[in-house]
Amino acid sequence: MASEFAVEMRDVVKRFITPEGSEMAAVDHVTMRIRNGEFFSMLGSSGCGKTTSLRMIAGFEWPTEGEVYIEGQAMGHTPPFQRKVNTVFQSYALFQHMTVFQNVAFGLEMEGASKAEIDKRVGHALEMVQLTGMGRRKPKQLSGGQQQRVALARALVKTPDVLLLDEPLGALDLKLRKEMQLELKALQVQLGITFIYVTHDQEEALTMSDRIAVMSRGKVQQMGTPVEVYERPSNKFVADFIGESNFFEGKIKSLSKNEASVFVPGLNAEVTGMPISEGLVKGEEVVVCIRPEKIRVTEKTARAEGLFHGRVSNTVYIGADTHVFVDVHGTQFKVWEQNRISRLDPKSFYVVGQEVSLMLMPENTLVLKKD
Ligand SMILES: Nc1ncnc2c1ncn2[C@@H]1O[C@H](COP(=O)(O)OP(=O)(O)OP(=O)(O)O)[C@@H](O)[C@H]1O
Ligand SMILES: [Mg+2]
Repeated sequence: MASEFAVEMRDVVKRFITPEGSEMAAVDHVTMRIRNGEFFSMLGSSGCGKTTSLRMIAGFEWPTEGEVYIEGQAMGHTPPFQRKVNTVFQSYALFQHMTVFQNVAFGLEMEGASKAEIDKRVGHALEMVQLTGMGRRKPKQLSGGQQQRVALARALVKTPDVLLLDEPLGALDLKLRKEMQLELKALQVQLGITFIYVTHDQEEALTMSDRIAVMSRGKVQQMGTPVEVYERPSNKFVADFIGESNFFEGKIKSLSKNEASVFVPGLNAEVTGMPISEGLVKGEEVVVCIRPEKIRVTEKTARAEGLFHGRVSNTVYIGADTHVFVDVHGTQFKVWEQNRISRLDPKSFYVVGQEVSLMLMPENTLVLKKD
């Protein structure tokens, strides 16, 4: 293959003039290098520039600044149909009056493929999305998930090297969505094509992706594997957006490469953690971040070192986990305990007001720059 990267966005900016007359950067100096065969996701909340980025890769929009490359070739103003990418749009509008087969065959017919060729390729595409035998149905005779798969087959039938998917599972209920996530991921691995996937659902991005670009207000906040963005979020925004966190404000007392000691006034104590953000200095005001499932809660022990003592202020049973809220010097910790033990006995829960101890591991205690 000509280039290591299937798709690149190099320092891309897209500005729009809003109907109100002001200029806004929907995409603001974004650089992404997406490798061949990679499952790459853009993750971010509504309006952060995901669809705009995807549309520039597909060729439906052109960058105001910067350049999009596909297989090492600068795209300039190349029209969509001359780019080796295919798109499954946010609203996947199937042709309602056509059968499943006709919907999938449409693109090939436009290209003037022979009937035998069309039969073969449509048959294969329907097989890939497990809709064999449903070719004669109309879209409204299918479930939401099945319709979604028709949209996918319509994109796959053209055997693209790169598939762009814009919230393709957005319309499905949670259970079907989770099933389709695993199916889509398996299909991507099996076909070995590059997927660029847009979602605002963090769990979906974590489940499916090789790498994730976490976006906010047109900018990439962090790019990394699911483990990296979850375990080592590079700033408070990412730590807050992906998963849940306890945040405490404090000031760096001492600092080495692998350890930072932070005085947290809210706890009236020093906390030892990992310096994550670049360029931290002694004396800096920082944010300490700890995931609720990384904290251990025990009945109060006499031991003091590395422990915080507090009182339970609430417990919430949510099936797989119990959320325990602990008040330490007026500062709330949320702690998630997995329900490995049976919870049928009410005595298995901590009681409100009970004294407990919390254990924080320095390797899971992240010291981040204040935003
Ligand atoms: N044609 C346009 N003219 C003016 N502003 C636009 C245009 N298209 C998008 N925008 C603005 O650019 C920003 C990014 O939009 P975009 O569609 O890329 O967001 P998104 O991340 O896909 O959001 P969602 O999750 O809601 O689909 C938004 O603030 C949007 O209002
Ligand atoms: Mg969008």
